Amino acid sequence: MAQDYLWYQGIPFPVVDFHPERIKAVHEELVLKDEDIITVTYPKSGTHWLIEVLSLIHTKGDPNWVRSVPLYIRSPWIENESGYKFKVERKEGPPLITSHLPIQLFPKSFFTSKAKMIYVIRNPKDVLISGYYFRSFTNLSKKPESLEQYFEWFLQGYVPYGSWFDHVRGWMSMREKENVLVLSYEQMKKDPRSMVERICGFLGKALEPGELDLVLENSSFQAMKENKMCNFPDAPEWIIPAGFKITRKGITGDWKNHFTP
Ligand code: A3P
Repeated sequence: MAQDYLWYQGIPFPVVDFHPERIKAVHEELVLKDEDIITVTYPKSGTHWLIEVLSLIHTKGDPNWVRSVPLYIRSPWIENESGYKFKVERKEGPPLITSHLPIQLFPKSFFTSKAKMIYVIRNPKDVLISGYYFRSFTNLSKKPESLEQYFEWFLQGYVPYGSWFDHVRGWMSMREKENVLVLSYEQMKKDPRSMVERICGFLGKALEPGELDLVLENSSFQAMKENKMCNFPDAPEWIIPAGFKITRKGITGDWKNHFTP
C-alpha cells in the first residue's frame, strides 16, 4: 500500500511532484501574508472554477490574463514542488494561492494572519464521480480499476488528500471566522452572479455591472472549456494525456448517472 502514494502524517498524497520535506516545510514554516487570497478545497470540488473567477475579478472581467497564463501559475498550489516554485518566483500579479491540504497540515501562519480564504464544498457523490474520471484518465496518482473500487477507496480515504469527510469537517470548523468564506459548488451553479457578488463583498472589491457580466461570461463552463490555460497547458503527456480537460461535465447530480440504487 505504501508505494501507491506518498504518505505524510497519515494522509496520502500523489507521488508525482510531492515531497514530504516540502509538505512539512509548508506546514511549519511557510509564512502567509495578510494580503494573500487562498482557495482551499478537497480535490474535484470546483477549485479551477473559483480560481478563474478570482483571476477575472482581479482583471475586472478582462480575459487577457486568464487566456495567456496557466491557471496553476496564476494561483499556485503551495504544497507541491512546481506550485511552491511558482509562488516563490512570482514577482507581480495578485497574491492568489491554492491548496488542497487538510486543516491539520495547512501553514500554521494562516491561523494568526488576516489572509482571506475561500473554501468550496461540493456534494461528495459528485466529488467521487469527478475524481474517478480524473484519476482514471490522468497519471498524477493511483488509477482505479473500476468505479466500484474507487467508491471503496473514497469511503476509506484511500485517495489523494485522504478522507473527504475529515477534510470538510476540519475546514468547516473555520466557517464563522471573519477571514473565511465557505461556498458550495451547488450554490455557484444555481446562482453564479450572487456567488461573484459574495466573493467581491468578502474581498472588498467593487465591480461595475458590465465588469461583473464579463467575469461571469469568461468563467462560464464553456469559456473555461475553450481556454487551454485552464486545462494543464505544458503538462507532460505521460502525466496528463493530450485532450484531457478538467472541464468534464460541470453539472450537479452526475452521480445519479453512475450510482446503483
Ligand atoms: P466534473 O468532473 O463533475 O465535470 P476541481 O477544479 O476541484 O478539480 O473540480 C473539477 C470539477 O469542476 C469538474 O467537475 C469540472 O467540470 C468542474 N468545473 C470546472 N469549471 C467549471 C465551471 N466553470 N462551471 C462548472 N463546473 C466547473
